[in-house]
Amino acid sequence: MVDLHAHLLPGVDDGADALEDAVRMCEVAAADGVRAAVATPHQRHEWWPNADRNDLEARFKSLLGAVGSTLALSLGAEIRVDSELLTEVDLLPDGSLLPLAGSRYLLLELPPVPVGPDPRAVVHELAVTGWRPVLAHPERIPWLAEQPGSLVELVERGALLQLTAMSVTGAFGRRARECCTFLLDNDLAHFVASDAHDASKRPPVLSDAVRVIAEGWGEERARLLTEDNPRAVLEDRPISKDVKS
Ligand SMILES: [Fe+2]
Repeated sequence: MVDLHAHLLPGVDDGADALEDAVRMCEVAAADGVRAAVATPHQRHEWWPNADRNDLEARFKSLLGAVGSTLALSLGAEIRVDSELLTEVDLLPDGSLLPLAGSRYLLLELPPVPVGPDPRAVVHELAVTGWRPVLAHPERIPWLAEQPGSLVELVERGALLQLTAMSVTGAFGRRARECCTFLLDNDLAHFVASDAHDASKRPPVLSDAVRVIAEGWGEERARLLTEDNPRAVLEDRPISKDVKS
């Protein structure tokens, strides 16, 4: 399995505190059967702007050294969508932003309340300029989860949707779980990731969600969302969208 969204980078956000916490998280992931993961610190978040890419890359280098061969790690970010986002994206490959594993995929976090630019416009603009916008856990963003039609529209405009494993299993409550079911039923989910923040309460574990998806939608779908599609991101190639259960 490949985990595209985990707050493994120590000391930069609400994820791993210290290097040893990050190493422990990587051990938990490896024990669960995760072979590769992207460390995705928050960027452009009001509390964790993380605008210094050099600092993030230096911390990542230390993490790589400490983790060794336990887990294949790459660097990315969970980037908050705001009115300046597209300007920052235009600066790539310079500027502050970190695409997922250096690919054309950008992991984007919409705000918890509907402020800022219209996500449909952001997704459209990114898609037509050759980026692949991945929306982090739409099922945990109330104003999106309550309007499934808006999620259909975002996918039609080029968004890819990342569900969080603990939403799929029901650990984040009924509403998130029901939204996941809707997205899986309608082939609107493209990735399942852990969004891990620590080694125990929000761990980097995917196998529980894999079991739920395999039971409900088939093993092929479970593999697509946790292995094939995230692997395509690491290799910077398009994902397969044509597999139905
Ligand atoms: Fe996250």
